[in-house]
Amino acid sequence: MKNCFRELFQSKKLASIGTLASGVAHELNNPLNNIYLAAQILSKEVKDEYPEIIKDTVKDIFSQALRVKGLVADLLDYTREKEYVFSDVNLNQTINNAFQQLVKSSDDLSWYTKINFSLSSDKPETIISADHVRLGRVFLNLFNNAIDAMKDGGNLNVKIISEDDTVSVEVADTGKGMSEKILDRIFEPFFTTKEKGTGLGLAIVYNIVKRHSGDISVKSEEGKGSTFKITLPRRHES
Ligand SMILES: Nc1ncnc2c1ncn2[C@@H]1O[C@H](COP(=O)(O)OP(=O)(O)O)[C@@H](O)[C@H]1O
Ligand SMILES: [Mg+2]
Repeated sequence: MKNCFRELFQSKKLASIGTLASGVAHELNNPLNNIYLAAQILSKEVKDEYPEIIKDTVKDIFSQALRVKGLVADLLDYTREKEYVFSDVNLNQTINNAFQQLVKSSDDLSWYTKINFSLSSDKPETIISADHVRLGRVFLNLFNNAIDAMKDGGNLNVKIISEDDTVSVEVADTGKGMSEKILDRIFEPFFTTKEKGTGLGLAIVYNIVKRHSGDISVKSEEGKGSTFKITLPRRHES
């Protein structure tokens, strides 16, 4: 009884945080895009012979605007109510594309040569019914975290395991792992241990997996690495 109440309270609290976050993100989106575009124009106008202080400041405005844009995009993603569209999705392709997208969208690619990415699968192709854009975002967020956890490099191994009615995907890294205390809170919106984190990545992942009637679990050992396992039904009645 006590637990039921706590869960209800928790979900109401989360719903109101969501409404607030969505409102703020929408309001910020336009002015922020303007700042970003203005900074982009400025950086093109800055010539080599300009004083360092001007060059540095323009660079700073540009990179900070980019960072806030990332936060607003995460907030909009987290609170987005846009309808899910389910269709047949090639899981192997979605996972490979997510990794490619990560490479393309990184403004600092120094991690790329230090990370060994592999995808193994018990079948050459696995088709499930899913919202392919959102499913891609699940892997993008998990890969981002794995790379953040492997600052000195390591392995990012993804494994697709087919069962009768479900398909599981394991995303394993050999990074720094998590303590019990951190593990307890990772799916909470805004929980982050990173200086520049938004704490929304795994909250978004959790929502998307649940909306696909799936499950997510985590195993982690400090200093050794973490494995996220997602199980999704093959077919989904939307
Ligand atoms: N693969 C991982 N290895 C170690 N820690 C992780 C991993 N994935 C998530 N975490 C922990 O969970 C926290 C929340 O992750 P997330 O919701 O994606 O937010 P963010 O990446 O912005 O911090 C991270 O700050 C980190 O402490
Ligand atoms: Mg993250």
